[in-house]
Amino acid sequence: MTQSINTICVIGAGTMGSGIAQTAAQNGFYTLLFDINAGVLDKAKTSIEKSLQFLVDKEKITAEEKETIFQRINFVSDTNDCLADIIIEAIVEKVDAKVSIFNQLAEVNHSEVIFATNTSSLSVSEIQAKVQQPQRVVGMHFFNPAQVMKLVEVVKGEQTLDSVAETVYDLCLQLKKTPVMCKDAPGFIVNRVARHYYLEAMRLVEKGIATIEKVDEIMETSGFKMGPFKLMDLIGNDVNLAVSQSLYDACNQVERFKPSALQMDKVAKGELGKKTGKGFYEYKG
Ligand SMILES: NC(=O)c1ccc[n+]([C@@H]2O[C@H](COP(=O)([O-])OP(=O)(O)OC[C@H]3O[C@@H](n4cnc5c(N)ncnc54)[C@H](O)[C@@H]3O)[C@@H](O)[C@H]2O)c1
Repeated sequence: MTQSINTICVIGAGTMGSGIAQTAAQNGFYTLLFDINAGVLDKAKTSIEKSLQFLVDKEKITAEEKETIFQRINFVSDTNDCLADIIIEAIVEKVDAKVSIFNQLAEVNHSEVIFATNTSSLSVSEIQAKVQQPQRVVGMHFFNPAQVMKLVEVVKGEQTLDSVAETVYDLCLQLKKTPVMCKDAPGFIVNRVARHYYLEAMRLVEKGIATIEKVDEIMETSGFKMGPFKLMDLIGNDVNLAVSQSLYDACNQVERFKPSALQMDKVAKGELGKKTGKGFYEYKG
C-alpha cells in the first residue's frame, strides 16, 4: 500500500534541488526548499521565478498560476523547519553528507517520513546501512533540468520497503514524471551507459583527435540533443567528476570508468560549468 504525500522537503537548492522544488510546487505540493548556503537559496528563488515566468511567456501557465506556484514554495534555512512527508536530498555527491542530513532530519520528522536520495551514482544500500531508518530510504534520481526532464529512476536499496518504493513511484506519476524502477547497481542505468559519452569524448580531446567544439558539433549533428561537453557544463564538472569517480571505485577501478585528467583540471580551476559561468565554454549572466 502506498502512503499519501502532502508536503515535500527538498534539501539542497542547487542545480537539481531548485528544479525538483519547482516541479513539486507546480504539481500542487506544499514545498520546502532548504540549503545551508543563504546565497544559493537566493539564487534558487530567482531561477525558479525566472523559469515560471518563461512558462507564463510561453502561455503554458497564467500570471496568477505563477504566483500560486511560487507561494507554495517555502525557502528555509533551519533544519527544524524541514518537516514533511518526504525528504528529497540533492546535496553534494558524498555518502557521509547524505547520511548526516538524513539522520539529522529523522530527529525532527514523523516516523513515516520517506528519505529519498537524488544521488546519481552512490549506492542506496550503502547510504541506508548508515541511517537510523534504513527501510525508509530510497533512490529518486531526477535528470537535469529536473523541471523539464521526464525520467526518474526509482532505486530500491537492499532494505527499502516495497511500500516506500511504490509510494515514490506513485509520487513521480503525480509529478507528471515517467518513473522506472531500477536495481541498486553502480550508476543505475542511465549514468552507467552515459558515462562513456563523457569519458570517451574527453579522451578524444586529450589525445588531440578532435577539439571540444568539433566533438559537440558532430554528436549534435548525429542526433544527440546536446554534445558531451555542453552537457557536462550543464551537469556541473564537479558533479560529473564525482559520478565518474564513484563508478570507477564501485567497478573495481576498471580503465573504462577512469576519470579524465581534463575534468579533474576543470574542477581544480573551479571551472564547474554553467553554474560558475565557465566550464568547457563560457557563459554570460
Ligand atoms: N547536476 C546534475 O545534472 C545532476 C543530475 C542528477 C542527479 N544529480 C545529483 O544531485 C545532487 C546535487 O547535485 P547538483 O548538481 O544539484 O549540485 P549543486 O552543487 O548544484 O548543489 C548542491 C547544493 O547542496 C548544498 N548543500 C551541500 N551540503 C548541504 C547540506 N549538508 N545541507 C543542505 N544543503 C547542502 C550546497 O550549498 C549546494 O547548493 C548530487 O547528488 C548529484 O549527483 C545531479
